[in-house]
Parts: sequence; structure tokens; C-alpha cells
Amino acid sequence: MTERWMDRRSFMATGVAGLAGGGLAGGGLGASVGADAGPKAAPPVAGAPVDVQSAEPRDLFPRVREQTFLNAAGGTPLGAFAEQGIERYLDFIRHGPAGGRGEYFGEVMSGVRPRFAALIGADEDEIGLVECTKAGEQIAIDGLDALHAHGNVVTNDLHFSGSLHNYEGLARSGIDVRVVQAGDAWRVTAERMIDAMDDRTALVAVSLVSNVNGHVEPIAELSEAAHAQGAIVFADVIQAAGAIPIDVRALGIDVAATSSYKWLFGIHGAGFLYVRRELQGTVLPDRLFPGHVRRNYPPWTDTPDPAIGRFAYSPPAAAVRYQPGHVSYLGYAAVYEGLRFIERMGGPEAINRRTAALRARLLDQLDTDRYRVLTPDPARTPILSLQPRTTEGLVDRLVAANVVVSVGGDMERLIRISPAVYNDASDIDRLAEVLAG
Ligand SMILES: Cc1ncc(COP(=O)(O)O)c(C=O)c1O
Repeated sequence: MTERWMDRRSFMATGVAGLAGGGLAGGGLGASVGADAGPKAAPPVAGAPVDVQSAEPRDLFPRVREQTFLNAAGGTPLGAFAEQGIERYLDFIRHGPAGGRGEYFGEVMSGVRPRFAALIGADEDEIGLVECTKAGEQIAIDGLDALHAHGNVVTNDLHFSGSLHNYEGLARSGIDVRVVQAGDAWRVTAERMIDAMDDRTALVAVSLVSNVNGHVEPIAELSEAAHAQGAIVFADVIQAAGAIPIDVRALGIDVAATSSYKWLFGIHGAGFLYVRRELQGTVLPDRLFPGHVRRNYPPWTDTPDPAIGRFAYSPPAAAVRYQPGHVSYLGYAAVYEGLRFIERMGGPEAINRRTAALRARLLDQLDTDRYRVLTPDPARTPILSLQPRTTEGLVDRLVAANVVVSVGGDMERLIRISPAVYNDASDIDRLAEVLAG
């Protein structure tokens, strides 16, 4: 058995799986990816259950032994399980596929899309891989012909500031961008969003959970109204996926995107794009035409097939069609393990039960004369934001106590607290003490 042969065989073993994840490897295999896939059952949970209410999750995150880390909305620290996934991928590229390494890579790339699909109530063929959340949102923006033919976008100012920056750029280039402002109520009602829509609205784009204050969009109502106007709904789900239950179908979401370094316990550079099956290639056409041609003429082939043109053309008929090239396999090894960790803890509902109790514990100890609560419904959302009367001395006190929260991110006086499964009551009590100081 030559090394060359082994590599080839391993490519065949893992390349097909890699293709399902990446839609990239040559050889015309791409055409079959999810082409006629119907709804699929969620993959079985792999690995021993983790009791989300116990200290077990905490033990898996080295950083929380060193710091009181309450900023999951900024990015979760690396868990031991994700580190192991990264190591196993590094072993694969360091030593090659023998010894089960190729099989692991295949498992990651064939398993990561169905696992993410199951998390948000979608099917595998509706999931593609993107490097970050905004890249997914851009695919919606670029693809919508109706938007570029005098259409408009409706969004609001609780959406991600990076996305609003993009929409400001689009507005300056002449696109009608309507930004509904939350104002001092710190919430945007469905009515106000619907008022901003009309029959030229092509896109309604929101963060399902706002990174500013955890506001949860009334997305089912927005979708109904948007669809009635012929628009599609994009949801940035980076502050929701893995943290609270999501069902894209029940919520009427058409396109969604997330990176994986927050509530999915992955790392930067590996994200997911959901595109509702019925929109793929039609309302949301391909712009990048991924895949590979096969040259159907000599000297490339001795037997040209008269039934095909000069190139065999087989674009993938699934959401992988939006992927232009190879992806961060290392990043997907991390988030694959992150998704399994979420499953092993019982999923987002169980996770939110733990984190909701932590947010409630902080609220119980909070002097609301000094700290105004800006989060409309802290039980439903992973983020708790406070507006202090003054931030004077606050950062110094946080640093001295080695407590990490987000201060002054989107707004001058804003404290954003986002406990995750590795936090416990002692973390909350330490923060409460700092706030009271
Ligand atoms: C709501 C929201 N969207 C998007 C992002 C990040 O976007 P990207 O994955 O494109 O870097 C963040 C990061 O903080 C966020 O909070």
C-alpha cells in the first residue's frame, strides 16, 4: 500500500464528506450534495451527557479558573473539547489521514452542518459555511435583485454596529436604507418595523438577539409582514444560536448567519449560513458559482462527451452553493466539538435555564437606582445590559477584582453581562460586589 494510494483512498473516504461541508473538491461530486434532500432527522447526540446544572461544564474551561469571565457575548473562552478538536485536525494535517485521523476529519466535515441545522430547526441542505456573520448577511444583500432595483432595506439600531456600518455604506451609495431607532425604550416593536416596510421592501435585516441589550426581535411578526410585502428576512443569530432555542421555520426566517466563537464554543473564522431551501438559486441566486469544471475536450479527455458543452458544469444544489472556496477546517473542528458539547448538555433550552438563573441572581442584588436595566426580558435572552448612573471608578474596580464584562461597547454608559454555562453563583456574587462598590 503506497503512501500515494493511501492519500487517494483517504481523499475518497474523507473528500466526499469534506465536499458535503465545503462543496469544493473537484471531480464533479458536488452536484449531488443535498440536491434532493428532504427533511432529515437530527443527528444522534454523540458522547456522554454533561449535567448543565453541575460544575462539570465549568471544569472544561481553563480561563474561568483564572478570571471571573462574564462576557460570552464577546466570545467564549476555548473549552477543552474544542481544543481537542483543533489538536485532532492539526494531527491530520501534520501526519496525514492514517490512524483514524482522516476519519475524524470526515466526521467533522460531514457532521458539522447537520448538527448546526438541528440546532436551528433547519435541514442540512439549507446550511452553508461562511467565515463570519457579516459574510452571510452580505450574501443576502448582494443576491437580492429586488433590493438593487430601487428596493429598500428595513433594519433597526439594535442590530449589530458592524452591519449598520455596512448599511450606512449602502445608503451612501444610493440604496434606500430605513433604520428604525429604539430610542430610550431600548426596544423596537413589530408595529414600528412594519410601519417602515412597503411594497418596495426587499430585505428586513435584524439581530435576532441584540448584542447591545439582549432585545429579542418579534421576528415571527416581522416575517409575516415582510413576506406580505414580498421581502425576505435576514436574522443575525450570533447572540442566539446555542444560547436560546431557535426554530427558523416557525419564526419565518429566510436567511440567517452566525460565526461560531460565541455561544457555539468555536473559534473565529468558521460560521454558518442558513438559506431557506425554496430561495436557493432563485430569490437568492448564486453570485460566485462554486464548484469545478471538467474540461470536455482533448487533450484533457480522450473521450469527450457530446452531450455536454466544453465544460461539465455541476453547481451544488444546496446552501453550500454560496461557498466560494475552501473553508477553515480547523475552525470547524472546534465548532463541531462545540455543537456536540451543546447537545451533551441537553441543548439551548437547558443551557438557558442555567444562565437565566444566573442573570436573575444578579438582578436580585442590583441597586436599580444606580443601574438601570436596559434588557427588556432578561429570562429570555442571554444578555443583560445595565446603564450605570456613572462609570467612574467602575473599570478600575472590575480590573482589581479580575472580573470581565463588556463596558462602554456600543454606548458610553453600558455594562453588558453575559454569563454562560461555565459561570456559577460565585461569579455573579463577585460582580454584584464590584457593582455595589
Ligand atoms: C450581533 C452581532 N453580529 C455580528 C457579530 C460579529 O460579526 P462577524 O461574525 O461578522 O465578525 C457580533 C460580534 O460581536 C455581534 O454581536
